[in-house]
Amino acid sequence: MKRVLSGIQPTAESFHLGNYLGAVRQWVELQENHDAFYCVVDLHALTVETEPALLRKRTLVAAAQLIALGLDPNKCTLFIQSHVPEHNQLGWVFECLAGFGEASRMTQFKDKSQKSGADRTVVGLFTYPILQAADIMLYQANLVPVGEDQRQHIELTRDLGQRFNSRFGNTFVIPEAYILKSAAKINDLQDPTAKMSKSAASNAGVIDILDSSDVNVKKIKSAVTDAGKEVVFDEKNKPGISNLLTIHSALSGKTIKELENEFAGKGYGDFKGAVAEVVTSYFAPVRQKTQELLADEKALLDLLAVGSEKARAVAGQTLANTYNALGLVPPRR
Ligand code: TYM
Repeated sequence: MKRVLSGIQPTAESFHLGNYLGAVRQWVELQENHDAFYCVVDLHALTVETEPALLRKRTLVAAAQLIALGLDPNKCTLFIQSHVPEHNQLGWVFECLAGFGEASRMTQFKDKSQKSGADRTVVGLFTYPILQAADIMLYQANLVPVGEDQRQHIELTRDLGQRFNSRFGNTFVIPEAYILKSAAKINDLQDPTAKMSKSAASNAGVIDILDSSDVNVKKIKSAVTDAGKEVVFDEKNKPGISNLLTIHSALSGKTIKELENEFAGKGYGDFKGAVAEVVTSYFAPVRQKTQELLADEKALLDLLAVGSEKARAVAGQTLANTYNALGLVPPRR
């Protein structure tokens, strides 16, 4: 069975629609016929300054939400990154393999560091993609289901793996990004040319899965639309309507063509009402299930402990092979 690995940061109170359609939905599908490892990457979240109590809460909400969205701990290995110290250990090895220039070219780093300025940018943000490479390589993953914004990080991971293998002998599987074309980039409802993002300046265009139906209906009804009044898919001239069509289609299972026909002759208002209905009915049960899971924290932590034990068994083996290949002397047992 092919291996899959992916991760998500606990940097917000809720995942948004982009996280779900771009990544998590594929995680759920892939667990059915792959050996799948999924982690809440709390160490990556340290690159964003957060109150400790809040980070703790967000990490548990993230894990509960993943289960509520369909991950089944009996079908996949679900764990918290910091429970598996091998991530940091392999991360260091890759830091000694990655070039400074190569890491400097990562567009996410460039964007984020430009926004906050050099003095307020932590070194961890610079090495973030290298830790991500370690997350993936530790599990010898074949596939990494992510959104389009992660493509460059997966390319870096591949480069580092190939470099290691050619210098020190075949140690790592070289992974491939698994990016679904139709949902690779869900855009902000207020600025439909920018991706929906947890770090958006305003939350008005971000659909949070755990928000109440009322809030989400309001956000969808006030989504920015385009000139004209036809509901047709045209990313260049109608980015707002095209984004809403993508969302409706992904959640309802109707094709874009079917939706265009259904809403022919009807206005944007009717269409937005339908999108709001599809989104809220899809996520209301998820919100409910997340609350139920969070109500029994012990049971949730027990599930995660099983996951981290399974993860450590694989990660420990890869790390031992890596240290051995590098010539690090193992401790005497
Ligand atoms: P994070 O938490 O920022 O995002 C989680 C996933 O959501 C996808 N995504 C989107 N997809 C479509 N449209 C959007 N608007 C949108 N916004 C976010 C992201 O592509 C991602 O797949 N660096 C990773 C976390 C990570 C990771 C890993 C991923 C750490 N280690 C190892 C894979 C493998 C990230 O961006 O998380």
